[in-house]
Amino acid sequence: MSLSLWAQVDRYFNQHILHDDPILDATLKESETGGLPNIAVAPNHGMLLTLLAQIQGARKILEIGTLGGYSAICLARALPKDGKLITLEYSPEYAKVARKNIDHAGLASQIEVRVGEAIHTLPELVSEAPFDLVFIDADKPNNLPYFEWAIKLSRVGTLIIMDNVVRDGKVINGNSDDANVKGVREFTEAVGREKRVSATALQTVGEKGYDGLMLIRVNE
Ligand code: SAH
Ligand code: DHB
Ligand code: MG
Repeated sequence: MSLSLWAQVDRYFNQHILHDDPILDATLKESETGGLPNIAVAPNHGMLLTLLAQIQGARKILEIGTLGGYSAICLARALPKDGKLITLEYSPEYAKVARKNIDHAGLASQIEVRVGEAIHTLPELVSEAPFDLVFIDADKPNNLPYFEWAIKLSRVGTLIIMDNVVRDGKVINGNSDDANVKGVREFTEAVGREKRVSATALQTVGEKGYDGLMLIRVNE
């Protein structure tokens, strides 16, 4: 199975069912112009985030890892008028691009970008918890602490989504010295030990290659 076939299948479905989206197109264009890496979720995964947030009935969403605001915009589109999304970003330059994109999307009153290392900005969110949905998509070596924070900031029924858990299948290598792989594996093993959640991992292929997501529901 070749990447180009995966990309062609993505293109087929996207053309038929995603519809034109000038806001998201502009978000990617501004991100490219700003020199940001091309690592936002793919358009079909962006729509998956919108749908999951809608199905969840989310009113308060937390994102870790903003980049240019692409996934934040997808998630925030599911919010009711008085809903809110807080997104955490390390880079002030990326945050600036994201704020511009969010403004252009008409979501500035609902999305707040907080700059800093997430491990330092997460403790400030205790007073704003619980979140209905948490999307974790930042530095993978910190997946486990981010998951632990997500649980702390959750209620019964919160949905936690972890991006990039497969990484071309590298996740199965228990001897890997890749810090990203180690981060995914430590996190995965902790999910397995955590009795308060149900979880499943989905492998994905497409225009952004071979990767996957984990979906986790907080049960108690
Ligand atoms: N969710 C975005 C993509 C995020 S890419 C989207 O799909 O549109 C990962 C982001 O995490 C990058 O912007 C990177 O700067 C940020 N990041 C890396 N380390 C971080 C840290 N310690 N704290 C907060 N953000 C971090
Ligand atoms: C990378 C990070 C991501 O969050 C992603 O979705 C894809 C790639 C990366 O750091 O390479
Ligand atoms: Mg990602």
